[in-house]
Amino acid sequence: MKVGVDYYPEHWDVSLWEQDAWQMREAGITIVRLAEFAWSRLEPAEGKFEFAWLDQAIGVLARHGINVVIGTPTATPPVWLTHDYPDVLPVDNKGNAIFAGVRLHRCYNSPSLRKFGERIIEQITQRYAPNPAVIGWQTDNELAANDCHCESCTRSFRGWLQRKYGSLETLNREWGTVVWSGEYSDWDQVTTPRGGSPYLNPSFLLDFRRFSSDAVADFNRFQAALIRKNSPGKFVTHNLWGYPVTADYYDMFDSMDFASVDYYPATDLLDDSKSRMYHGALTLDLTRGVKRKNFWVMEQLSGTPGCWYPMSRTPFPGMIRAYAWQSVSRGADAIVQFRWRSARIGAEQFWHGLLDHHGVPGRRFEEFVQFSQEAQKLAPLLEGTTLKHDVAMLFSHEQMNAFQIQPQADGFDYLGNFKRVHSALLKMGVGADVINWRDDFQGYKLVIAPMLYLIDGTIAATLKQYVDNGGTLVLTTRSGVKNLNNVCLPDRLPNLLTDLAGVYVDEYDPVGKDIQTLNLDSGEELSSGQWCDILTPVTAETIATYASEYFANESAITRNAHGKGVVYYVGTVLHETASQILMRRIASDAGVECEFELPDGVEVAVRSSEERRILFVLNLTREPKEILLPVRDYVSALSDRRLPASSIILGPGSVEILVEENATAASVA
Ligand code: GAL
Ligand code: ZN
Repeated sequence: MKVGVDYYPEHWDVSLWEQDAWQMREAGITIVRLAEFAWSRLEPAEGKFEFAWLDQAIGVLARHGINVVIGTPTATPPVWLTHDYPDVLPVDNKGNAIFAGVRLHRCYNSPSLRKFGERIIEQITQRYAPNPAVIGWQTDNELAANDCHCESCTRSFRGWLQRKYGSLETLNREWGTVVWSGEYSDWDQVTTPRGGSPYLNPSFLLDFRRFSSDAVADFNRFQAALIRKNSPGKFVTHNLWGYPVTADYYDMFDSMDFASVDYYPATDLLDDSKSRMYHGALTLDLTRGVKRKNFWVMEQLSGTPGCWYPMSRTPFPGMIRAYAWQSVSRGADAIVQFRWRSARIGAEQFWHGLLDHHGVPGRRFEEFVQFSQEAQKLAPLLEGTTLKHDVAMLFSHEQMNAFQIQPQADGFDYLGNFKRVHSALLKMGVGADVINWRDDFQGYKLVIAPMLYLIDGTIAATLKQYVDNGGTLVLTTRSGVKNLNNVCLPDRLPNLLTDLAGVYVDEYDPVGKDIQTLNLDSGEELSSGQWCDILTPVTAETIATYASEYFANESAITRNAHGKGVVYYVGTVLHETASQILMRRIASDAGVECEFELPDGVEVAVRSSEERRILFVLNLTREPKEILLPVRDYVSALSDRRLPASSIILGPGSVEILVEENATAASVA
């Protein structure tokens, strides 16, 4: 467990560095991430390198016992580079180059970016690999799939399609270009999806997104390979930006040692929607799922957010500490706060750090110091612990992209719907691993695979194997709709999943914002929206029927015994409370323990190892909350006090970290 800050020595007078480093050490900071935007200072003109300032900055930090993570500066090509080699700049879908002098203004397929990117990375890694204060590397910054239409991308996209489809005939057939006379007769006619028309072919659009995602993953691999060559034995990570995104993070991180995330929870929680309140937990669970292990937070909220848009609320008292502990509770092994000092210059003057513009430590700084001291105290306890769960949720960038291209109904949103199920589990205190839908999930008691819109025989077979062996699987509406080329499948929905679900979709209605009611067989009334599948059970039993409209009394949710396992099919998008009622029932059917009924905005998570089980209880809201705990022997890791009662009251932004005494390995599983 380590604590750090993001620091930009190149923005501050050198006379401040010593004092900053001293103050960092006093605050318990042992890591600084730096240099990720400093290309123009490291290479002020083509081939002219200047490292003296960075040597000095790292030296000052190291003298105070602070290690550094160096970011490669490729997110900010300097002006000389874009001016002399304009192919570095991405081109939008109307043919206009993105302007220089900002950031992220670079095309991953640009030959000049590769050439000069390679050279600066070689230079930095060769220089700093031997430095013991440099413990690892961050590639670039928040890599995202470009929507680039430059000549290099057009050529690479053509090559990508040739490799995928082999011939133009196959491409024409698989994309269905016969519609609206879109057939190609020569490869030179194939371009990126220019013009930004809403009427473009969805197969074309999805492949372009895949191509763009592959390009950024490849750019990350290119960087990782250079770093590893010159700096063997030091870690390579990347700081991902929160979801939704178009790049496939599972690919983008295959070259990384572990994932890092930039975590900026919303500060305006007061009048916030509940789903936004639970967005952070999902982001952290997704991040842990990227490499299926603990991760770092490379940028953690430290102050008032804002810059080119109006500032949001300042983190309320307790928020900085509580959300840092939330990150730890979901698997973070290092918390690096963004940023040390608030910038006095440049585009991000009002994205506040731990210190305000005046530099005098205040409330937020003190709160961070409290967290930092606690983290230091708890580090030995947390060592070797991680999260282990009975439940997996299968996440898919492919589905998310396909739904972004064709939103199915008014309000239909892949990530939002995914989040509602995840939040229902959170409210019951049931932890889940959120993993790649292509990863192995055979060992879980319960697997939730929402909205498998694009499907192939492989995933259908893997799901069947899981259920045959006794697993409980949850499928939902908009599953089995298309093949992977984004073409509708010919049979009744859910197509390749029909036998497994024991049910087919007779008719559907994209009800959008019209609210529907359902009757659950246990007597509860549920509400839903967005979409209604009218189901015909074959081998499945109906557990909920619609109670409204022309499809009243028709089947809406089913349960099918299959092999040694069970498959639920949820034919509509349940609202929040309804989702909680159903998930509680399914979890208990699957033998998953649901020990909590948590108040809004309270989260629990368990980190464990062979030796210990540590329960985090977090009140992430501005109001006090009472939490009922399962009866165990707890000792507070923060206060070392034994917990007398099975109920605790946590003030706004308060945290309790409880070691469960006598917890056996069996109760961990
Ligand atoms: C992040 C980015 C940082 C900084 C921060 C605050 O997304 O990585 O460099 O810009 O947001 O705006
Ligand atoms: Zn390009």
